[in-house]
Amino acid sequence: MQQDFKTFASNCRQRVDTALDLHFPAGDDPTQLRAAMRYSLFNGGKRVRPTLAYAAALAIKPELDLSLIDPIACALECLHSYSLVHDDLPAMDDDDLRRGKPTCHIAFNEASAILAGDGLQTLAFDLLTQTRLPASTQIQLVRELAQGSGAHGMVLGQAIDLAAVDHQLNLAQLEQMHNHKTGALIRAAVAMGALAAEATHTQLAALDTYASAIGLAFQVQDDILDVTGDTATIGKQQGADIAKNKPTYVSLLGLESAKHKAAELHQQAISALNEFGDSASYLRDLARYIVERSN
Ligand code: IPE
Ligand code: IPE
Ligand code: MG
Ligand code: MG
Ligand code: MG
Repeated sequence: MQQDFKTFASNCRQRVDTALDLHFPAGDDPTQLRAAMRYSLFNGGKRVRPTLAYAAALAIKPELDLSLIDPIACALECLHSYSLVHDDLPAMDDDDLRRGKPTCHIAFNEASAILAGDGLQTLAFDLLTQTRLPASTQIQLVRELAQGSGAHGMVLGQAIDLAAVDHQLNLAQLEQMHNHKTGALIRAAVAMGALAAEATHTQLAALDTYASAIGLAFQVQDDILDVTGDTATIGKQQGADIAKNKPTYVSLLGLESAKHKAAELHQQAISALNEFGDSASYLRDLARYIVERSN
């Protein structure tokens, strides 16, 4: 029997936390590198990308032993945490608060934060070689993560984001930026969970349509929360985008149109799951959560 979504999401968070602690335990740490990496992994992330990978795998194989997905979930969270550590650096968004705590470069120092990010990124790929999946699947996973996070994915999006500060983007350019900086890793998360569960090409294509919609919706909601959230709830400085004159859905379209866009993307995501039955119910729940979340 399927658990309700809240229980499922909480179990996913526990799974990935336990596995991360196992794969990257506290230990001998003369330079504080390990401490900075663990600080950035265990400071209260929502674990959305790991949860998406678990849910995508279950959409394909409802009886799958989720321990098969644990290293993939850890890899996604390592990669994502690295992206946040670097995103917060003074040369990028220059933020002091992340997940309600001082950012890595504030808690440690700038060089340590750069190196912690580097260490987390490579750890992610190391973890993908530690699954019980066939070598050919491991190669597909490495490729998905590299493409989603690299110069054709998240890193390109971050470059577009930084180049866009103080500039006016049109809607197509804004969408392209968001699709890369946030959507690409979310698409990789869904694809990786599905690949591990041996999804067919047709299933992968439908899930990618779903993931593209929620990936963009995730960043639209992030833009909305920068305006409507409060610092204590979102765990980062409210108004940071406005203060830095960042182009966002809200700055371009206004709050109501941004909310409308998120709702439209939610519908697109749900429609993409039409061919799936109950096995995709956690993916449907996640789509709703992504546009309704308050942090
Ligand atoms: C924040 O991601 C960065 C964006 C891509 C918008 P999350 O909102 O998933 O951050 P955590 O991991 O829960 O802190
Ligand atoms: C972050 O976008 C995207 C990443 C790749 C980290 P933002 O800069 O909007 O994320 P927050 O608001 O700092 O979490
Ligand atoms: Mg940023
Ligand atoms: Mg930022
Ligand atoms: Mg933001």
